[in-house]
Amino acid sequence: MQRIAVVGSINMDYFIESEVLPKLGETVLGENFFLSIGGKGANQAVAAARLGGDVSLFGSVGDDENSDMIIKKLEKENINLVNLQSVKGLPTGAAFIELCQSENRIIVVPGANTHTNIDYVKNAASELLNYDVIVFQLETPLDMIEYLVPLLYEHGKTIIINPAPAQTLSQDLINKVTYITPNEHEYKLVFNTNDSMEELLKKYPNKLIITCGSEGVRFFDGKEIRLVPSIKVIPVDTTGAGDTFSGAFAVAIAEGNCLEASIRFGNIAAGISVTKKGAQTGMPKRNDVTQFVKEKEYKDEK
Ligand code: RIB
Ligand code: NA
Repeated sequence: MQRIAVVGSINMDYFIESEVLPKLGETVLGENFFLSIGGKGANQAVAAARLGGDVSLFGSVGDDENSDMIIKKLEKENINLVNLQSVKGLPTGAAFIELCQSENRIIVVPGANTHTNIDYVKNAASELLNYDVIVFQLETPLDMIEYLVPLLYEHGKTIIINPAPAQTLSQDLINKVTYITPNEHEYKLVFNTNDSMEELLKKYPNKLIITCGSEGVRFFDGKEIRLVPSIKVIPVDTTGAGDTFSGAFAVAIAEGNCLEASIRFGNIAAGISVTKKGAQTGMPKRNDVTQFVKEKEYKDEK
């Protein structure tokens, strides 16, 4: 199997659950508060590792207690952490997540993630070239990604960008990535376009993969637009669903599966993940996905 490097953010997630969200200037009583490890980079690395991927995480933590807690947890996930850097004088990234009726609202304070920058990746570049599939998100500086992608492209690497939180990407960057996975709310800003989903998908066959929540995932296979349906679940917390999709998709691609099969694998993993609270808590192990597929085949036969 090919090796996966995730270059991305690492956060401590502070979850607050409440039945209603306060308006500006208002106070409401919440139901629950908990801490959990997150950050899109760490989440995607954990998702991929639980599913059997050979994964290394490139990123930064601060020099605070959160960083110790996070590293202890990530060490148990079978992720190679030797390339993590610890940044003196900065806090570890933090995300403040309001959960309400299984939907969320998030503010991220990047902290040490700002140091997953060009200087850091320049030092890590030769190490990164030992990996085959490289996964990025947009919670780390964009100029770092713009610096790395042309280099990875020259070396024939498979490059996956999950463009979240959404920012406009340059045409050159888009051209050089292998797969780009915005959701239905992000693609217009990422591509800086007014094209409809269908028009845009047709411009990027087998590259642009748009995740459409509980409906499924769309891509253009060169002949027609395909919808790979999501699995049906009752969502408890969708935080990290996109990350689970991305990590699982990377594993399936690293294993040499075709695009449609890789998306299907991502959908199953993401579907399972939303049945538990927290970004990483519900992320399935390989066995959970295998079990799900078996049960589904059994039901379909009946
Ligand atoms: O994608 C979910 C993640 O976004 C959370 O874990 C939080 O850290 C924010 O970065
Ligand atoms: Na979840």
